[in-house]
Amino acid sequence: MIGHRVPDRDGAAVSTPITISVDGEPIEARVGQSLAAALIAAGTVAWRTTPRARRPRGAFCAMGVCFDCLVVVNGRHDVRACQHRVAAGDVVESSPWPDGRVSDGGDRG
Ligand code: FES
Repeated sequence: MIGHRVPDRDGAAVSTPITISVDGEPIEARVGQSLAAALIAAGTVAWRTTPRARRPRGAFCAMGVCFDCLVVVNGRHDVRACQHRVAAGDVVESSPWPDGRVSDGGDRG
């Protein structure tokens, strides 16, 4: 999938690029960016599945209300990607359990 990052203006860097790891793959993010924005900019719109129906989920409300964007960040479970500001070296996991379950909280599918 094609990334969705807004290009820097006139070649000037808007913010400092950093690298984070998502399921073992490096992706570029920017200082101050939310994790959800970094994932979307990298071309990922769904990063977990619901426990029962295995439906894809990503950012829905993007303001911390729906809990559809849950991920594991640096070993901490149930982090809302839309509320987490990325930091260089962040390690993000989308499906930590063998059955693909991230959390049973907030599942509607
Ligand atoms: S997208 Fe709704 S809580 Fe993150």
